Amino acid sequence: MQIVILATTDDIETFTGDYILNRIEAGHLRVLGVATGSSPLPVYRGLAKRWTPKVGALTAFALDEYVGLDYSHPESYHAVVDREVTQPLRLDPMRVHVPDGNAPDLDAAAADYESLIAQSGGVDLQILGIGTTGHIGFNEPTSSLNSRTRVKTLALQTRADNARFFDAPELVPSLCLTQGLGTILDAAEILMVAQGESKAHAIAQAVEGPLTAMCPASVLQLHPRATIVLDEAAASELLHSDYYRYVFAQQRGITHPGLIDPGRSATAN
Ligand code: GLP
Repeated sequence: MQIVILATTDDIETFTGDYILNRIEAGHLRVLGVATGSSPLPVYRGLAKRWTPKVGALTAFALDEYVGLDYSHPESYHAVVDREVTQPLRLDPMRVHVPDGNAPDLDAAAADYESLIAQSGGVDLQILGIGTTGHIGFNEPTSSLNSRTRVKTLALQTRADNARFFDAPELVPSLCLTQGLGTILDAAEILMVAQGESKAHAIAQAVEGPLTAMCPASVLQLHPRATIVLDEAAASELLHSDYYRYVFAQQRGITHPGLIDPGRSATAN
């Protein structure tokens, strides 16, 4: 796991935009996993500013969708992904996939979604945000660490957090269709972004806490190529932030107060 702590949203935009474009240009990224929420927005802005035809040729898979919310609703993830990802990145809508939370048979839709990801060759890079409950996608605490795409019930905390997007708290759907933690772990590479103090506890649990279904994002500790990009506020409860800054500075060849050995440091793992 590599932890990158950056000062501003602009820095996050630059770092993640450069990072993803490099992966695309190097031929390692054809299928992008996309997340909703405010934290990944700088990623999409950064990539839109660096747009090339190869960016426009990406296939995308979203993590999740509410169950029973009409796709014309501006907060359905079909609508959010179209607005925040498909349009700015000029992707072919036929190659942008979101779980079908309105399918008559949700279990079949979940299985179909898994098949579609497999048929596409799998996700090369998965972008993630994190919920205050430590969820990724909509995998709430106690989700199986091996779970696949399925119907889940949102935590009350998540419904409260997402109430800001709806006219009334009771209008937040209570069910969702979400990729599982096992599905997410299948991505070749993970890029998580978290900003703000409200994420500090979940990030500390995910990065430095035990591997536990009580903090679903802690499952990223099992992934060999996970990068977690944070602002100072989201990083504020990490115990080892000096070490993360030291490693990052070393990789970039930047002078850092803790830098004793200017040799090359290890890559993310
Ligand atoms: C929703 C999404 C998650 C996202 C989370 C946090 O619950 N299902 O994928 O990570 O929101 O969103 P934000 O970054 O806006 O706090």
